[in-house]
Amino acid sequence: MASERRGWALVTGASAGIGAEVALRLARRGHPLVVVARRGDRLAALAEQARREHGVDVRGVAADLSREEGRVAVRGVLDQLRAPLEVAVLNAGIGTQGRFTDLDRATEVREVRLNCVAVVDLASHVLPGMVANGRGDLVVMSSAAATQAIPYMSTYAATKAFEMRFVRGLDQELRGTGVRAFAICPGPVRTAFHRMGWGKELPRLMPTESAGSVAARVIRVLDRRRRNPVVASGPLAPITIPLTGFLGEAISAWGAGLYHRPRH
Ligand SMILES: NC(=O)c1ccc[n+]([C@@H]2O[C@H](COP(=O)([O-])OP(=O)(O)OC[C@H]3O[C@@H](n4cnc5c(N)ncnc54)[C@H](OP(=O)(O)O)[C@@H]3O)[C@@H](O)[C@H]2O)c1
Repeated sequence: MASERRGWALVTGASAGIGAEVALRLARRGHPLVVVARRGDRLAALAEQARREHGVDVRGVAADLSREEGRVAVRGVLDQLRAPLEVAVLNAGIGTQGRFTDLDRATEVREVRLNCVAVVDLASHVLPGMVANGRGDLVVMSSAAATQAIPYMSTYAATKAFEMRFVRGLDQELRGTGVRAFAICPGPVRTAFHRMGWGKELPRLMPTESAGSVAARVIRVLDRRRRNPVVASGPLAPITIPLTGFLGEAISAWGAGLYHRPRH
């Protein structure tokens, strides 16, 4: 059972990976949940586990957030809640890799719609209620990839930079309202993300973290009173984020390009 009763939490991309782990930890923290992803069967299984183990109410919304219809469905469910959200975790995201001129145009555009447009759309929908209520936390799952251009992941890195800058701006705007905004920036996390159109698997010896560890980080951020808006997560991000700042845009992009260049 949950330790304490809390307000509603939204988690997008909750059917797998980081989002599923965040949703279960929020349920354990006592939040009733609205969980969103395209795969409704996985959301139903997650909802059943969260209800059974933590006794919280869960509403699953099977929706494609890269499409306006999907976002309308989510906004509709949020509007039916009797209370404003306490936490919104905008985590759903995809990443493409390869030479940009070889990549599928529709998929690149979908990546921007999901990683950027859906984040702005849902943040715009939930933040006014949080501000009116004088409390709430917006968490955007950005990436360590946000801090530099990454050749052969050009669209992905740009979308993650968008998310990080968006949160930094919101953080300033929200000061004094009781509402906080965070961009979580993990380095490599072993999830299905790296099997989806990804050019290469993560090297076996690369220091990574688990989806559960990122989720635990999210909960620690929520539990703390501090409001540093950009949060590095995992063994690599606390090194690579300052390093890219030190090296500068051009050298960082050149180095990343050497690593990510397709070998075939
Ligand atoms: N894995 C990493 O190394 C890593 C590192 C840094 C940041 N991140 C970020 O972490 C977030 C989660 O990634 P992950 O590693 O957990 O990946 P994942 O295991 O592939 O999970 C992605 C989640 O997003 C959902 N999703 C994908 N397309 C969607 C759409 N059009 N509409 C609604 N939901 C959609 C998926 O559900 P459905 O397929 O059921 O829709 C799934 O629940 C992403 O924003 C990613 O950029 C990942």
